[in-house]
Amino acid sequence: MEVKSKEIKITKAKESKISSVDFSNLKFGSVYTDHMLVCTYKDGEWKTPEIIPYQPLTLDPAAKIFHYGQSIFEGMKAYKDADGEAWLFRPMDNCKRLNISAKRLSIPEIPEAFFMEGLTALVNLEKDWIPTGSGSSLYIRPFVLASGVGFHASPADEYKFLICCAPSGAYFSGKVRVLIEEKYSRSANGGVGFAKAGGNYAGQFYPTQLAVKKGYQQVIWTDDNTHEYIEEAGAMNIFVRIGDTLITGPTSDRILDGITRKSILDIAAQEGIKTEVRKITVSEVVEAAKSGELKELFGAGTAAVISPIAGFGYKEVDYDLPEMQNSYANLLKERITDIQYNRSEDPFGWRYKI
Ligand code: PLP
Ligand code: COI
Repeated sequence: MEVKSKEIKITKAKESKISSVDFSNLKFGSVYTDHMLVCTYKDGEWKTPEIIPYQPLTLDPAAKIFHYGQSIFEGMKAYKDADGEAWLFRPMDNCKRLNISAKRLSIPEIPEAFFMEGLTALVNLEKDWIPTGSGSSLYIRPFVLASGVGFHASPADEYKFLICCAPSGAYFSGKVRVLIEEKYSRSANGGVGFAKAGGNYAGQFYPTQLAVKKGYQQVIWTDDNTHEYIEEAGAMNIFVRIGDTLITGPTSDRILDGITRKSILDIAAQEGIKTEVRKITVSEVVEAAKSGELKELFGAGTAAVISPIAGFGYKEVDYDLPEMQNSYANLLKERITDIQYNRSEDPFGWRYKI
């Protein structure tokens, strides 16, 4: 839907909270900037977005978000370079994916102009909040929720599209160990696994808590049908290095089409790393771990960037990965963050100046 935005109205916060934030000790996504974007869908159309001071929402208890979980979100980051300029990374890809999720959840699509103009106006206003410490950035959370009311189990007739921002440090602290799931499933064929639907994450919390109790940080999901194939982790796509080949599973109905994942595939090809996009069986990963051919496992996502996995558990056995000197994970992380933080050329045209 082609909609040209009218001027976005900006109401500034009376006072900034920025001086109360300890930028040297940022967690992930736990403090929020002074402003947020709000856009309302009503009477069959998205109204012009507004930027207002960060504040609680008022919703009717009968709003469908509370009963039927009609909600979707995106995750993206703004980076500051050495000259103080702000950059986004492939923002149109997030916009397009939000609308892929919207369609699947029967949420009206957000006009691209509203998304892009709202996002850039908000990040521009919050530029001072983009942290500059190593590995930190401004995490941006666009999301849509059903604000329309009714206990009838059908799509709402009103929605809110919001964007909030959180200056953030690393998503994981310390080494990541994962459990390969044998029982629970994150998604199924024909389901909503490819969408960034809030409910996809709620459904992971219980099995992930069971894994955390056993000493792992994340679950690696396997296919719902046989549990024989590696799919993805809770908030990241998964890469496996067997010998010198870097392998990731194909995207499907059940797997989120990660922007970091597809960027890594392009960078790896440019670096001359042999890549394969194909189904990966749990048994080949276990066999490779036993024979020493399994060199690396890592997760890739906006929040997680590239997170090396130190070891995994499967059927009550723990497998450790070797400490690699010249790991693909380190090389690829350096290359992708150099592009994101404007420390290198951007041959792919992914960087987007605010
Ligand atoms: N898979 C899931 C389930 C995620 O939540 C994410 C995070 O967004 C990813 C993969 C990685 O996607 P992206 O690289 O676009 O952030
Ligand atoms: C992201 O990487 O941006 C995500 O959305 C993951 C999130 C669940 C923290």
